[in-house]
Parts: sequence; structure tokens; C-alpha cells
Amino acid sequence: MTSSTSSSPLRERPASEARIREMLCVADQQMDTLRTLLTADRAPVAGRTIEAGGRIRYFGHACVLLQSPSVSILVDPFISSDVAAGGRFTYADLPDRLDYVLITHGHQDHVVPETLLQIRNRVGVVVVPRSGGGQRQDPSLRLFLRDLGFEVREVDDFDEIAFAGGRIVATPFLGEHSDLDIRAKSTYCVRLAGRSMFIGADSSGLDPQLYRHIRAAVGPADIGFLGMECDGAPLTWLCRPLFTQPVPRQMSVTRKLSGSNAAQAADIVRELGIQQAFVYAMGEEDWLQHVMATSYTPESFQLQQVAEFVATCRDQGVAAEHLYRQREIAWEA
Ligand SMILES: [Fe+2]
Ligand SMILES: [Fe+2]
Repeated sequence: MTSSTSSSPLRERPASEARIREMLCVADQQMDTLRTLLTADRAPVAGRTIEAGGRIRYFGHACVLLQSPSVSILVDPFISSDVAAGGRFTYADLPDRLDYVLITHGHQDHVVPETLLQIRNRVGVVVVPRSGGGQRQDPSLRLFLRDLGFEVREVDDFDEIAFAGGRIVATPFLGEHSDLDIRAKSTYCVRLAGRSMFIGADSSGLDPQLYRHIRAAVGPADIGFLGMECDGAPLTWLCRPLFTQPVPRQMSVTRKLSGSNAAQAADIVRELGIQQAFVYAMGEEDWLQHVMATSYTPESFQLQQVAEFVATCRDQGVAAEHLYRQREIAWEA
């Protein structure tokens, strides 16, 4: 299939059955199956864009949509296809235009081809962190996404992308990569509709000093999204195929894919001046379990750390919340 045929935006613009059949090279005996995937009716979901102010919509896990009346930014797209399930935002809730897609890092729950290919026709630019180059543990997100047909902008720490009424600044991402030399990872500070947001992904707050420097460079953040998978998978869970020699178990279990614990997350909130903190990216939603391996119970260390962090924030007058599945935050201009 060529890129010109595969990018036909059937969700937004209809085509005849004959044209769809031609594009997909469907045989006579496959037509009944094809028809189960098509509909003659499209009833656009209301409220996909906003007329004033700003809005954040949480699509689950690390996927966050930031909107003003003129700009839409989608972070780490991973979207449920099940529009009938309820209790979640789906593709039907996306605006027709996504000016920017921000990718924080190359883990399978943050750069998701099955979602990216479905939104490609509405995306302006995909923003990705620059890889170190030439190392197999640190492949180029730019080349990967360009090959999928996207316009890609590669950023280094503190690179800035300005747009009408706001900006995106790439900021450092510490940790969470098993101590491997991986550079293709970035957090982002986004200013939009009068608010500043820190998108922390799975970054761990290894050193509060870093966030002091970030604040000095880009200013405080009103809202923070922080990943707290703080007892992550061991090195070999994700990276075993990269090694040419067996990895000793002791090395694997001491070099984990861990985000911030309660104390580290609290440090980030304090240093960046965050007033509204959201714990996210915990891998809890059912529609992404095919790429995640989380199996929390109420006694799990990670969830206890989240509870401790939320309590610490509240003690300090900071609003804090553990996001799950769906959430909307809106404000006046
Ligand atoms: Fe990650
Ligand atoms: Fe993650």
C-alpha cells in the first residue's frame, strides 16, 4: 500500500465503497468483512474544540490533549479505539487538526504506531527528542516517524517552538532508562492559554537541582503531569535483545525502568512551583494492557507512593490527583 492511499482520512472525509475497496485491494469474498468496518453515518462528537480559554483532556496513561481555541497539542498519543465502551475519550473526541504531537521517549507506551497511523492525516508536526546517534539502544525517533509519513521536528534540551499564544520548550528527562546511554528522551514545558504545564512523562526526580535550573530557564509551572511507576521493570524486561552477552540478574534488577517515587515527585512539584499536580502514566487502563505489564494491588509499592505523594501535596496546599482513564480540566482565558 502506498502512503497516498493509506493516508486517506475516512474518519473525516467519506469515500465510496468502490473507492475504499480499490484502495485496500479487497477481494470479492472479503467484502462482507470490509462492510463491518464501515459506516455511512458520521455524527461528529460535540465539544472537540473550544471557543475560549484553555482545556486539558486526559485520554488515559500518558496521553494528554492540550487545547486553546487556536492550537491543539497531543502528548504521547495512545488512544482507545472502543468508542462504544464509554468512560474514556477516543478518536471520536479528537479535533480535526492536531498542530503538534509531542513524543517524550521511545518506550512502547509513549510512541505507539497503531495510534499514530490513525491520526497521521490530522497532525501538523511531531516533536521528538534527538537521539545520541549510532547506538542501538538509542534509535532515532525522527527517522522512524519520518518513515511513517510524518513531518518531524527534532529537539534538544531547551529548544523552543513558539506558536500564537504560547510555546513548547523541550526540557531534560532524567532516569527511567536502566542507566543506559539513551538521549532520545524529553520532558516538555508548554505554555498555552495563559497556563504553564510541565509534562514529566516517566522522568524520575533524581536531583531537585535540575528542576531549579529548569524553573530558572523557563519559569514556574502551574500544572504538572508526573509519572510515578517507581518500581519499574528490570533492565532485561525491555532491553535484553540489545545485549551481546548475558546480563547478570543482579545488574538487571538494580537497573530498572523507574519513574519518580513520592519524595522525588514532591521535589519536582516544589522546585517547579506546581500548583496542580497529576500523577499519570501508570499503565493502569485496560485498553493498553497488551503493551504494559502492570498488575497493581492496593498494597503495591507504587500505589502507596502515589498516596504518599498526594498527601504530601495536600499538606503543602498543592492540589494533587491520581489520574485514571479520563479527566477534563478547563479554564477561562
Ligand atoms: Fe518509559
Ligand atoms: Fe511509560
